[in-house]
Amino acid sequence: MIRSVVRGYGAALPKRVMTNKELETLVDTSDEWIVQRTGIRQRYIAGDDETTASLGEQAARAALDNAGLTPDDIDLVLLATSTPDNTFPATAVNIQNRLGMTHGYAFDMQAVCSGFVYAMATADLHIRGGMAKRVLVIGAETFSRILDWTDRTTCVLFGDGAGALILEAAEGEGTVADRGILTSHLRSDGSHKEKLYVDGGPSTTGTVGHLRMEGREVFKHAVGMITDVIEAAFEATGTTAEDLDWLVPHQANRRIIDGSAKKLGIPPEKVVVTVDLHGNTSAASIPLALSVALADGRIKKGDLVMLEAMGGGFTWGAVLIRW
Ligand code: UT7
Repeated sequence: MIRSVVRGYGAALPKRVMTNKELETLVDTSDEWIVQRTGIRQRYIAGDDETTASLGEQAARAALDNAGLTPDDIDLVLLATSTPDNTFPATAVNIQNRLGMTHGYAFDMQAVCSGFVYAMATADLHIRGGMAKRVLVIGAETFSRILDWTDRTTCVLFGDGAGALILEAAEGEGTVADRGILTSHLRSDGSHKEKLYVDGGPSTTGTVGHLRMEGREVFKHAVGMITDVIEAAFEATGTTAEDLDWLVPHQANRRIIDGSAKKLGIPPEKVVVTVDLHGNTSAASIPLALSVALADGRIKKGDLVMLEAMGGGFTWGAVLIRW
């Protein structure tokens, strides 16, 4: 059977770092509160010359270099983002153009913080369905542009950045020993849509709007939803927490990550945590975390890696990959 195997990775961060200390000068907060409640120590903030498309392009080029490929080798550019450069066209076609590609196809995927997991599952279907042989899957965000910088309950949490993976069609045996995506599980429940949303849009206010969140409400549902979908991935493949080499979660809050891993019986040394460095970069957080753990040699070929995310919608999901 056809499997979607990871061929390369890349990441990009804005030039400017914003520490918790700097936030203390903007809103009534403290480094201590932010670290204790979230684990975040700093985040990157896009400058005027940096956008979702420019960061996405940079991550894409790094992934192509890492894979030893060129844009000519790519059939599909799939971008997970909730902060597109324009309402339309899709920022994915902007990136496609920046890469000099006039072949293939490109589109955006919007599942907020679960965007990268949704995009990986979708890319896998396009590969296994024979639509594409190689897919550039990008998660890129500039959440700093939709934050209310006077609201301390949200502005301290998010950051900007981009990460990318290249998935490639390869023959597998149909067992969990195969390299590539082994299973994907996606969920959503729109009855929670007002707990984490942006209060603007083309069809309602005609404005971009600002991010609004009932943090405590999101927190309350997060661990249960995350563990449920990871358990579904274990069940579908006959694997267990012991078989897992790495859990690479969406990086929203250290307490949610630790709570989920504990409930699943996954020891902390198998969990990749980068929320301290990047803050919550929504759809970019998983590929950014992957890029750190791949660059420092933690994740190796053959490792069993679980990606998971939960966010606005609510949406949530998990993807199990043999690296
Ligand atoms: O990626 C998408 C998914 N999003 C998430 O996963 C976010 C989920 N939620 C969370 O991570 C947490 O709920 C937060 C980090 C947002 C908040 O942590 P919490 O432990 O749930 O705090 P809380 O909202 O219950 O607030 C506790 C106190 C409040 O004061 P009172 O009412 O107890 O006097 C807040 O006003 O902390 C106050 N507070 C702050 N204090 C200093 C809220 N924000 C801040 C702040 N600095 N930035």
